Amino acid sequence: MKVGIIGTGYVGLPTGIGFAELGHIVICADNDVNKVQALNQGKITLYEKDAEKLLIKNIKSKKIYFTSSIKECVINSDVIIIAVGTPIVDTNINMSDMNGVLDVIKEITPHLNKYKLIAVKSTVAVGTCHNIETLIKKISPEAKFDVVSLPEFLREGFALYDFFNPDRIVAGVGSIKAKTIINKLYGPLLKKTKILFVNRQSSELIKYASNSFLAVKISFVNELANFCEKTKADINEVSKGLGLDKRIGSKFLSPGPGYGGSCFPKDTKSLVAMANKYNVDMPLIKTVIKENESRKKQISHRILDLIKKINKPKIAILGLAFKAGTDDCRESPAIDIIFELLKHNVSINAYDPQAMQTCFKILGNKIKYSNTIYDAVEDADILVVLTEWEQFKNIDLKKISLIMKHKNILDCRNILDYKKVLKYKFNYEYIGGRK
Ligand code: UDX
Repeated sequence: MKVGIIGTGYVGLPTGIGFAELGHIVICADNDVNKVQALNQGKITLYEKDAEKLLIKNIKSKKIYFTSSIKECVINSDVIIIAVGTPIVDTNINMSDMNGVLDVIKEITPHLNKYKLIAVKSTVAVGTCHNIETLIKKISPEAKFDVVSLPEFLREGFALYDFFNPDRIVAGVGSIKAKTIINKLYGPLLKKTKILFVNRQSSELIKYASNSFLAVKISFVNELANFCEKTKADINEVSKGLGLDKRIGSKFLSPGPGYGGSCFPKDTKSLVAMANKYNVDMPLIKTVIKENESRKKQISHRILDLIKKINKPKIAILGLAFKAGTDDCRESPAIDIIFELLKHNVSINAYDPQAMQTCFKILGNKIKYSNTIYDAVEDADILVVLTEWEQFKNIDLKKISLIMKHKNILDCRNILDYKKVLKYKFNYEYIGGRK
């Protein structure tokens, strides 16, 4: 099949590479000419495991190419996947903005030269696919098309793994024809995964519901961690015990500095705002949003408390990305924590294996960026781990104990081996306890 993808961000690009790898011919459109040029040369524009390798492979076999022309993309495709962002632009209403998606629809409609399936992968408000259908019919009454909701569940950093090994594929469809095309699109994956066909509104809501539920899980474990800190209970053990119950499941029970990224903060807020439009209150999700916001302040104050006796303290931050495996700093807890710390006459040296450039776009020269973990830590009064990168788990604690000024560690991802930490006589605190 010929698959057009509009938008080559964290969703569109891995999806495009994935469908090319499945054997389809993929044409990706993006209005950023420089990005299109780089991608056509096989240069990946974001950090995602295995993406560059598979991109180059599929460019060589002519399965994928990039264009800045939406017309070229649409005319040459049987299926058009919309993968543009739906950010919250007005923080008073907190609703994801659908204008980007609707603008794309207006642009593609004049080029619907034959029947096309329009699949909406962008996270859109419940009812958007229906609105898109109405809009296209209004602009071009003779156009032949179906609109389907095809939410994405790819995790950043594991996007290609998730693409090839999905727990489920959800498709919101309104016609048999659309269903047949979706089955063909995912054909090779159907040996191991089922497609759940539902109505379009349900499909749109499943995306918000999944992310909000996971946000609840994380917030729940973070709340328990606060309690553990005042008792001898250890959150790592509690979390393990909870997760062994198959009804609960062990995933998304790692305590931390709060959830971040482009999805959880946005989708929880949007769900509340959407429900509010229908006069439905969502007090549970509202509380989760509020607690996640205040969590980052709590962590900043915990850091400051540990170094309160030190004049102009030097803080080493390990990890800027909102989680490991990505260079994405959108809604990263590290960024909010740093902003809060900077209000208190401290200096910050940070290191992240992938996210320093993206972080620089937000924080600029407000902090120093180090080339290695050890440069960041030298002379520091406290070391704070904020992202769970694999390489942080194996840091040379002996070396660090010799180069730090004061041996304080706050491990906000509970990744360090506390036995080793104690061997080198650090004052070690983590989420849900201290040793
Ligand atoms: C999420 C969804 O998982 C994915 O299905 C959807 O399509 C996009 O949004 P992503 O934003 O890439 O994916 O990150 P995810 O791995 O879900 O983590 C989200 C946040 O929760 C991160 O800040 C992470 O550090 C935090 N988290 C996750 C925890 O604090 N504890 C956990 O146990 C798991």
